[in-house]
This record gives sequence, C-alpha cells and structure tokens, in this order.
Amino acid sequence: MTNRIITDEKAELILDGKTYHLPVIMGTEGEKAIDIKSLRAQTGYITMDSGFMNTGACCSSITFLDGEEGVLSYRGYGIEELAENCTFVEVSYLLDNGCLPSQEQLSNFSQMLGKYAMIHEDMIRFFDGFPPNSPPMAILSSMVNSLCSFYPDMLDNPLENIDKMAARLLSKVRTIAAFSYKKSMGQPLVYPRHDLSYCANFLNMMFDSPVKPYEVDDTVVKALNKLLILHGDHEQNCSTSTVRVVGSARVNLYASISAGINALWGPLHGGANQAVMEMLDKIHMEGGNFKKYIERAKDPNDPFRLVGFGHRVYKTHDPRARIIKKACEDVLNALNVKDPLLDIARELEAVALSDEYFIERNLYPNVDFYSGIIYRAIGIPTNMFTVMFALGRLPGWIAHWKEMWDDPDWRISRPRQIYVGHKRRPFVPIERRTGCV
Ligand SMILES: CC(C)(COP(=O)(O)OP(=O)(O)OC[C@H]1O[C@@H](n2cnc3c(N)ncnc32)[C@H](O)[C@@H]1OP(=O)(O)O)[C@@H](O)C(=O)NCCC(=O)NCCS
Repeated sequence: MTNRIITDEKAELILDGKTYHLPVIMGTEGEKAIDIKSLRAQTGYITMDSGFMNTGACCSSITFLDGEEGVLSYRGYGIEELAENCTFVEVSYLLDNGCLPSQEQLSNFSQMLGKYAMIHEDMIRFFDGFPPNSPPMAILSSMVNSLCSFYPDMLDNPLENIDKMAARLLSKVRTIAAFSYKKSMGQPLVYPRHDLSYCANFLNMMFDSPVKPYEVDDTVVKALNKLLILHGDHEQNCSTSTVRVVGSARVNLYASISAGINALWGPLHGGANQAVMEMLDKIHMEGGNFKKYIERAKDPNDPFRLVGFGHRVYKTHDPRARIIKKACEDVLNALNVKDPLLDIARELEAVALSDEYFIERNLYPNVDFYSGIIYRAIGIPTNMFTVMFALGRLPGWIAHWKEMWDDPDWRISRPRQIYVGHKRRPFVPIERRTGCV
C-alpha cells in the first residue's frame, strides 16, 4: 500500500567530524526524502522543524499534491476530471477504496449510505442541550464523538468493518449537519429520504419545510457535488494530520474524526471560508474599499491577513480555487443571482495578484476564497460553511485513518523537542517561596 522506493542514493551528514550516510526514499511521482529514523540513535541529534514545514510523517497512496506546479490528484486521477465527471459519492468511494467504483459497486455503496442515513432518536435530544447560537462545529464534533457510544459494535475489528463505519459516518454526518441547522432555525427536522441522491438529500433536509416544500434544483446539486469533491482530501493538512495523530494511539474512527473536525474549525484552516465571507461582507458594508484591506495585509505591524489568500504548500494557483472560481460564476449565472461580494472578490484578487507583496511571497487565492460565495448563493448560512468543509473532507479523513491503521510502519505519533526551560534546581518549601513574579 505505501509503495516507497528505497533508492541507491545516500545523504551524507557530517557531525562532530564523523560522516553518516542516511537512506534516501522516493515516491511514485519522484518526490525524495531523507530517512532520519535512525539519526538520534546514531548521532544523539534530533531534527528541528516547527510547524512541520519540511517533515514527512508517513508514506501515503491517497493524494498527490505538487505545490510548485499547482497539481492535485486523488488516487492518481486529476482533480479537474473528477470534479467535472463524478459525484461526491463516487469520489468518496475512490478515496476510501483506492479505485473508482463500477456501476454495481456504486449502487451498493449508495444503498448503504441510504440505509445508514438516520441518527438514533436519542441523539436527536442532544441538540436540545446546546445553548442557542452554539457554534455548529462544536455541535458537529460532539455529535460525531458520541457515535462511538451509539454504534460500538464494530470498534473491536475496525479494518474488517471499515466500509460500514465509513458509510455510516458519511451518511450520518450529513444528517447531523442538516439537523443542527434546522434546530438553530427552530424548524421541524426533515428526515432523510431514500429516493434522493446524497447531495439532493442533504439540500432537502436543510431547506424543505411543511409550509414551503423544497424543489431539488440540478444546478445546485451539481455545484454542491463539485464543492464537496474539491474538499475531499488534501494530504497531510492540519486536520488530517490530527486524525492520524489521534488515531495513532489506536483511538477509534469516530473519536479520531471528531478531533479532525476540531482542528478544521480554526480560522487558519477550514474556518477560513467563513472568515472570507465575513471579510468580503465587511468590505461591502464599508462601501467596497478593499484596497484598505490589502494595505493592512501588507503592514508588518498589523496582524491582519487577507483571508482566502496563501497556502502552506501551494506557491502558485491552488488548482481547486481555479475550478471553484469558474463554478461560482456558472452557479450565479444559472440561478440568476447577483452578488456584490463576487465583484469585490474578483477585484480584490486582481489587485492582490499584481501587487509586489503578494507576488514576492507567492500568495494566491486558495480554495476558500470563492467557495463561500457559492454556498451563499445556494442558501447555506455563513456559520455552516466550515461544517460543509467537514462534510467534504470526511472521506479523506477516513481514508487516512484506514491507511494509518493498516500501515506496517505504524508507530504512535510522538514528536521530540529541545528543552529550553530551567536547568535542574533545588526544591523550595512553600514557606520560603517568593512565588511567581
Ligand atoms: C494559509 C496560511 C496559514 C499559510 O501559512 P504559512 O505557510 O505558515 O505561511 P507564512 O505565515 O510563513 O507566510 C509567509 C509570508 O507571507 C505572508 N502571508 C501569508 N499569508 C498571507 C495573507 N493571507 N495575507 C497577507 N500576508 C500573508 C506572511 O505574513 C509571511 O510574510 P513575511 O515573510 O513577510 O513574514 C497563511 O497563508 C494564511 O494565514 N492565510 C490566510 C488564512 C487562509 O486563507 N487559510 C486557508 C488555507 S486553505
């Protein structure tokens, strides 16, 4: 599964006058890494890399990403083709099983998603315990964590039952997300239907009401499929690494994914899509003067950052952002929606991309820059944007958890550190302490 090539190359390291030879490994797309596993045992040194800017934590066969060239593929298939030709359910199957499903496999998988769509009626009472205006991400992570209590049966043999657990999660998280929205609106819950596709079902659970039946619109279903596919996986990002780190302690799938949801919540990660809309809205309310925000983003004394710009890995256009920008224009045209925030976003992008500050630092719009405008056009409220990201990222988290669990090189994740605190000192009894000053 984790097909790395051990090359003939060796990295030469000279420390304290002694030469060490470290193995070099290579991936299927030619990426190379120096294997430092034995470094400390051989030399007494560790490596230092805060934020894991240059540290590989595993070999993975799920997603390939080339940040210099702006390339992204899932299981070897280009993201552009998947977004154009597949549904989210097909891509979820691909991510979690390694191959595109046949017609029969797809229909079995869809049936499983239909079968698992309900949540236990007792879980529905949880929603009542959250105060009004609770952050939807807090509700989502709590609910997903509690799935282990409601469905403990498969936890002992996770790899044997992974397909069922994955289908259960993919289906139930969609229901939990829609129910949490209905609860926040004070509206009656709309249960999942067996006759609707994955995305149509979600939209129906969100927007159908006894006084205004929802009519499923193909344009909206297509746009949602595309957005979820584009969020499906992005190799070792913060939330996925969290799922792997938590799972590495042999924590069950539901609890590991709940941890990933919490990591995704951060405004520097999945929370950015909401933050982008709030920024664009603020610019709009202030009369559209986005240049002030560009100046603020460039000011080294101002902590403000242009949200939706920049990426740890992409140093060129994020390929997902290109697809989303086009989809955004298509959806707004098809639905005949005029959104002033789209005009502001376009102008802001054009000015930032020709500004020296952004050029020098390779800062381009990322996946979150335009996605919120589509969500808004299809009626998803801003505080649900990060929940939508979680729904899309779910198959990726599941695939990584499964790969990590099955990896022959698996070890519990446990980084090292360089201690910089006090040297060992004598203990002071309480009557002689001066306290912290
Ligand atoms: C995504 C992000 C966290 C990546 O951070 P990172 O890889 O650690 O990059 P750094 O913070 O080292 O940034 C490198 C330089 O670009 C600047 N920079 C990065 N993103 C910036 C932004 N959005 N606006 C203004 N300046 C930015 C930094 O200030 C830094 O400048 P310096 O070299 O003068 O100090 C960062 O680009 C960011 O905060 N973007 C906005 C939030 C966002 O859209 N997140 C969603 C990601 S999909």
